[in-house]
Amino acid sequence: MPTQQQLKQAVAQAAIDYIRPHLVPGSIIGVGTGSTADCFIDLLTPFAGQFAGAVASSERTAQRLMQGGVKVFNLNDVETMPVYVDGADEINPALQMIKGGGGALTREKIVASVAREFVCIVDASKQVDVLGAFALPVEVLPMAVASVMRFARGIGGNPAVREGFVTDNGNVIVDIAGLSIADPAQLECTLNQLPGVVTNGIFARHSASVALVADPQGVRKLMA
Ligand code: A5P
Repeated sequence: MPTQQQLKQAVAQAAIDYIRPHLVPGSIIGVGTGSTADCFIDLLTPFAGQFAGAVASSERTAQRLMQGGVKVFNLNDVETMPVYVDGADEINPALQMIKGGGGALTREKIVASVAREFVCIVDASKQVDVLGAFALPVEVLPMAVASVMRFARGIGGNPAVREGFVTDNGNVIVDIAGLSIADPAQLECTLNQLPGVVTNGIFARHSASVALVADPQGVRKLMA
């Protein structure tokens, strides 16, 4: 039986194979954050020099890419990006996701929004029918934490501040447990309207174009 780490490596290799046509001169790809994305980066760095470079979704990812010799671009200097590759904390059959377990949700959503295609790489433990068993991360400006938590309780959630964690943007993460998210696009929109919310971890408006899912039988490719 493969370990979860072996599944992450298998799906990372499948992602390299999938995006291989984009690893060509002049091409810039988007790279996500997390333990699965780390596996992807480690398999990507041998191609450094064959493509122009990457936009990173976090400081952590930028460091790992640069250590592997991949040039890291500022998103504001990039006009087109064919593909963004990242993990997820949960993914449903419509390829909508909860992300942000690593706290990088805001930059992840920005980079994903610019890329033409979002390739989500997960092991099968991340597949759910309904999003919400994983506590929903919300990046919040510090002075809005209490008001956002009150709102979260009002919709039946159980919010908690992620202790000892500051995002790359200098903000706080509120994790909302206890939700069963029947309409991800609607809740994504509602949370975005709250003053002080920077980003929430629902990726419904920027759902994955394709999901590569690793299980002991191999890697499956899912389209919504
Ligand atoms: C980072 O903020 C997250 O969105 C990650 O992409 C997500 O949590 C998946 O991480 P793992 O691959 O470590 O499970």
